[in-house]
Amino acid sequence: MKFTVLSLFPGILRGFFNDSIMAKAVQRGLVDYELVNIRDYAYDKHRVCDDAPYGGGAGMVLKPEPLARCLDSVAASGKRVVFPTPSGRPFTQAVAADLAREEELVFICGRYEGIDQRIIDLYVDDEVSIGDYVISSGEISTLVMVDAIYRLLDGVITRESLEEESFTQPLLEYPHYTRPEDFRGLRVPQILLGGHHAHIEDWRLKKRVEKTLTMRPDLLEGEGIDEEIRRMRDAMRGTSEG
Ligand code: ADE
Repeated sequence: MKFTVLSLFPGILRGFFNDSIMAKAVQRGLVDYELVNIRDYAYDKHRVCDDAPYGGGAGMVLKPEPLARCLDSVAASGKRVVFPTPSGRPFTQAVAADLAREEELVFICGRYEGIDQRIIDLYVDDEVSIGDYVISSGEISTLVMVDAIYRLLDGVITRESLEEESFTQPLLEYPHYTRPEDFRGLRVPQILLGGHHAHIEDWRLKKRVEKTLTMRPDLLEGEGIDEEIRRMRDAMRGTSEG
């Protein structure tokens, strides 16, 4: 899969692509990427990329011409173009999985108040929000999405890690421990030291249900919760209410 990212501040993005698991995925040919500086497509003397909004109001808007030229330079019209924006539909694991099926994705990193609506009308396929808050850097929201997407690609991380994760099932993760056995008087739960696989699995499931009930009870309300989990949830609720 190829990620093409259009940005006024590509330096913010570079470190992510050059380090850690992403760098390995690039080296192994699982991921390709291109960072394109929108300012290189502003042809006036001062390479201006923003302007005041028609109709007045606070802030500046990214001008359409440099962005359009930049999008044309990467042949965006034939590709799926994603614009991270607080006005988009929510970014979820399901959206990440859907985007991970593409051969190539083009991201537009917004700045200021936003981008000219005509760029959205002409080029953008998906307007997506990473949450109900506003951040100032479209680079950060793009990286959140790129990270969630590329790790789903075959070979980037183990299938086992993916399967165990929160949000691929409607349960949050169980707590993790590593050495030492005793850290500042807090001991690793005895059950994890015993090596009894079935008991460990039972304990982990119970912890996942407990955690979900505390942090995200909404996840345990929908259809598709299996019978065992439903029973554990009801028993835990009975305990906390009684
Ligand atoms: N840019 C600024 N805030 C954002 C958000 N919540 N989601 C996506 N892009 C954004």
